[in-house]
Amino acid sequence: MKNKNMPKHVAIILDGNGRWAKKKKKPRSFGHYMGGRNLFRVATQANELGIEKLSVYAFSTENWKRPQEEVDYLMTFPVEYYEKNKHRIDEILFKVTVSGRKDRLPKALLKVIDDVVEKTKNNKGLELNICLDYGSYDEIIQAVNACDQPVTRKDLEAHLMVSEPVDLLIRTSGEQRISNFLLWQISYAELYFTKVYWPSFNKKQFEKALNNYQKRTRRFGGLK
Ligand code: IPE
Ligand code: IPE
Ligand code: MG
Repeated sequence: MKNKNMPKHVAIILDGNGRWAKKKKKPRSFGHYMGGRNLFRVATQANELGIEKLSVYAFSTENWKRPQEEVDYLMTFPVEYYEKNKHRIDEILFKVTVSGRKDRLPKALLKVIDDVVEKTKNNKGLELNICLDYGSYDEIIQAVNACDQPVTRKDLEAHLMVSEPVDLLIRTSGEQRISNFLLWQISYAELYFTKVYWPSFNKKQFEKALNNYQKRTRRFGGLK
């Protein structure tokens, strides 16, 4: 894997946990659990490759529409996982940040988020930005409301939850849509879709996406 021409900011729509589990005749919750574990593997790889930022879509502002039981699992399993594994927090070599609304998440999850963000904030290298109760409509509206009038691009971008433009957007599971993720930030991103379900998206798959990105010519409206 060539480290030159690495994307600075990679975004991933982590999709297909449910279908992955179904294929294995397991409950959807098992897919979410294995998807969560995979996130830390992929982030470790991104850190080793020298990627600066990895923004992942873990729970959208629309995902509250899912059955209560599934929403409850998604809000509680990270807490249980953290409680069991917090003695190993030093193994996380990258910084963790979280983007999204904070007013609808359960208190116990917010506490875990604060803890992980605080304990990893001095790590060098990658920033893993987990987008939770995140949606672009929501993000852009709150940013516009926070700006002085008339709104400028610079001011608006300063108020977005995620400020850096995305270089490469990956979506797993075969769906080819954006589902309200980083609409502003992906304006000139390279898009990469793979049929692989998120829990199966391994080291090789990630390298394949990055290799594909490295072969592309980005023009940003100009000529190259
Ligand atoms: C992605 O997997 C994780 C979340 C949206 C929380 P899904 O849960 O969307 O899995 P599929 O798309 O139903 O297979
Ligand atoms: C997008 O996946 C949201 C996350 C991955 C968190 P969904 O599974 O919710 O998207 P749709 O409903 O298929 O568009
Ligand atoms: Mg899905």
